[in-house]
Amino acid sequence: MILYYILGVIALALLIHFGIKFSKHKSLYPFMPFKYNFRRRRNTFKKTLELLDKRKSKIIVETGTSRKGLEATRGDGAATIVFGKWAKQNDAKMYSVDISEDSVKGSQSAVTEQGLDKNVSVLLQDALVFLAEFGQKIDLLYLDSYDYSRTDVDIQQKSQEHHLKEFQLAEDKLHEQTIVLIDDCGLPGGGKGKLVVEYMIEKGWEVLIDAYQILLIKKGTSV
Ligand SMILES: C[S@@+](CC[C@H](N)C(=O)[O-])C[C@H]1O[C@@H](n2cnc3c(N)ncnc32)[C@H](O)[C@@H]1O
Repeated sequence: MILYYILGVIALALLIHFGIKFSKHKSLYPFMPFKYNFRRRRNTFKKTLELLDKRKSKIIVETGTSRKGLEATRGDGAATIVFGKWAKQNDAKMYSVDISEDSVKGSQSAVTEQGLDKNVSVLLQDALVFLAEFGQKIDLLYLDSYDYSRTDVDIQQKSQEHHLKEFQLAEDKLHEQTIVLIDDCGLPGGGKGKLVVEYMIEKGWEVLIDAYQILLIKKGTSV
């Protein structure tokens, strides 16, 4: 009797332990291997991937590349690899632009390691210049460049202004079915998206998910 009781307590403890662990483990399985934890970006990535499928997207642009590749699914997000993999599976093309040589090197080696070279171009350039010159329509615009600060108000403002400029430079390349995802929003001071989202709402965009990342589509378009 005592043995059953002890075994029961152990089983319960294990269940609680793994239950809690699993609830914190936010994977994109089966799209990405189960071991990768996308944490606060899992739901927005999942919805974005669903929309990419539905809208048969072909051109993806990311500002700020995955400098640490898949090592940083919990930190930076690893979007270059996630959306790059989607691009490979769907015969689409991704452009990931970054101003830092080191970031480009890190991202490029992860892209090559994942076999994504044919579908993903990692480019060393200021996103503002890249977006001003880009000559194609954009189906997914992912804004995630100028690093934000939780504490420095000056950096917060510069990052917000920068992301607004990026959007404005991309604006004439967007269309009714374009998806816009903005990273690092759920942060003190409003995050990277504060000014862009205000601007976009005035211009007829609607927020589909407002979380750590903000996901927007054109108002009235189907999800
Ligand atoms: C948070 S990381 C990007 C993370 C990446 N999107 C991911 O999902 O893993 C931010 C990157 O933006 C880059 N960056 C900062 N200012 C930029 C600019 N003006 N143009 C392009 N990239 C910029 C930085 O060099 C850095 O590599």
